[in-house]
Amino acid sequence: MLNSPEPAENLTIYIALILFAVLALALTIILLFFVSRKKISQKKLEAQALKLKHKSDLIIYNIETQEMERQRIAQDLHDDIGSQLNLISLGLHRLQKVGSKIEQEETDAILLLTEGVIDRVRSLSHELLPPILEKFGLIAALQEVEFNYNKINSIQLNFKTNIDDEDIYVDLSRRLHLYRICQELIQNSLKHGKAKCIRMSLLGQNDTLILSFNDDGVGFDVNKLDSGKGMGLMNIENRVEMLHGTMSIESELHEGSSFQIRLPKLEKDERDH
Ligand SMILES: Nc1ncnc2c1ncn2[C@@H]1O[C@H](COP(=O)(O)OP(=O)(O)O)[C@@H](O)[C@H]1O
Ligand SMILES: [Mg+2]
Repeated sequence: MLNSPEPAENLTIYIALILFAVLALALTIILLFFVSRKKISQKKLEAQALKLKHKSDLIIYNIETQEMERQRIAQDLHDDIGSQLNLISLGLHRLQKVGSKIEQEETDAILLLTEGVIDRVRSLSHELLPPILEKFGLIAALQEVEFNYNKINSIQLNFKTNIDDEDIYVDLSRRLHLYRICQELIQNSLKHGKAKCIRMSLLGQNDTLILSFNDDGVGFDVNKLDSGKGMGLMNIENRVEMLHGTMSIESELHEGSSFQIRLPKLEKDERDH
């Protein structure tokens, strides 16, 4: 005959069962806690990525509209205001030949002023959109930059290239982006780095275009850049992204700064546009 378990034994079984249930519940709660924490941090990461993407989309949009505006203003200045000023200058030249001595002297003065304004309008429109970029390309434009900076005695700018046919690497919009990047890098070197010597090169290596930029300025802490990045470097990063390229920055305090930008070669159909 089978013996039914003693009440004390029953109690032990109940306690064990309850303990097991409590343990299972605790484990489930801990598991749920970790799963939901992971989900929350994943959601946070996603939200952060979305925010970054939105910010970079906005900057890209700003860069594009800014370039379009610059182009429009440069054209208006050159074609509209420039040509009207030229007409005024022609009229003044005609007036110079007639009229009394006093009138001629006054016309001279106005003519001088008008020619000054014509020069200013021309250089302003060239600053906004350097015509050399469109007419002769990026290499010529950078050589012109090199020439102009070397006119200033205290600065030495050296530009090197090995590219014969830049059409393989750049179309007009790429030229403009790379040109603006170089402008900003030079300005930063002079303004923040107080550099005296800048070396810049644009080299083609198989399927890659490499823009290297080095200065002998005071340098900066690259690790602190995330919080200290201004519009200039952010615009450079976004232009590089628009060109599907990559950028690396190396700098140390008192050791100068160097930047390297690598861009893929243009596809055949991009070149044909
Ligand atoms: N060539 C450089 N030499 C020294 N510091 C630099 C150089 N380039 C960038 N920096 C540092 O990076 C910061 C961000 O530059 P940037 O984004 O162009 O902003 P901004 O020129 O408007 O201050 C600068 O304030 C400066 O501290
Ligand atoms: Mg800057």
